[in-house]
Parts: sequence; C-alpha cells; structure tokens
Amino acid sequence: MSLLKIIKVGAPILRETAEPVTRFDKKLEKTLKNMAETMYAANGCGLAAPQIGLKKRMVVIDAGDGAGIREFVNPVLSDFKGEAIDTEGCLSVDEYEGEVKRAAEVTVTFQDRKGARWRMEAHGLLARALQHECDHLDGILFIDKALSLTPKRKEE
Ligand code: CO
Repeated sequence: MSLLKIIKVGAPILRETAEPVTRFDKKLEKTLKNMAETMYAANGCGLAAPQIGLKKRMVVIDAGDGAGIREFVNPVLSDFKGEAIDTEGCLSVDEYEGEVKRAAEVTVTFQDRKGARWRMEAHGLLARALQHECDHLDGILFIDKALSLTPKRKEE
C-alpha cells in the first residue's frame, strides 16, 4: 500500500464530473486500499477518487460507527429524507470548515470492489459523508453549499 497525494481546491479535476468504474480488477482493489490508507493518514472520514487525481466514481468512508472502512463504487443516492445541519471539512480544503445542510437520511445503491450491487440506507455521519463524497464525483465541494465558513483551527 502507499499514500497518495491529495489534490487541493483550485485543481480543475475537483470541478469535473467523474466517470463510472467499469473494470473490477486488482488495480481497482489496490486503488481503494490506497485511498483508505491516505484518508486515515490525513485523519479524514471520507475520500473521493477525484481527490487523488482519479476521475472515477468511487469513494471510501469511515463514519466512525465501528464498521471500519466502507467502499462505494459507482454510488447513486436517492430517497433523501429530513434535514440536518452540521460542520464539515474536506481533505482538499485546508483553510476552512463550514456548516452544511444535508438530508438526514439517504439510500445509496453502489457496487463493491468485485462489482456486486448493493443497496443501503444511511443516517447520521454516514449519510452526511455519502452526500459530501458523492458531490465530489460531480465536481461539487462543500464550500459551494456551506451556510457559513470559518477558518480551520490549526492542529496543535
Ligand atoms: Co471532501
């Protein structure tokens, strides 16, 4: 495994629409593992492929619910329910965090690393992270949607 460089805001790829994953091979498996390792090393709870310079529709998330790393390939969100406002940050945005309004619950259909299709209902941080990460696949950043932005506190 290896750490990947995280692309920062300003790079064109973060504003592009990612393409569906069509090959479910060893390379995909390796990329997903590297994405997870990179996310953990940066103390993040989610990472989308465009953030490592790959224009593909896949994300990894650890919602801190004990399930560990979750991989979503070609995720599609539906059945948005309720509203929740909470603070978000992004590994591609070093300077700010902000309050973002999201649906409180979503349903995600996706493929796993082998190409099998799944459907899952999500709430809480997982629902928020799914909405944040899936936005990345369409070139949208949380700073576009934030109700307010505040300078990020430096880690001591
Ligand atoms: Co992000």
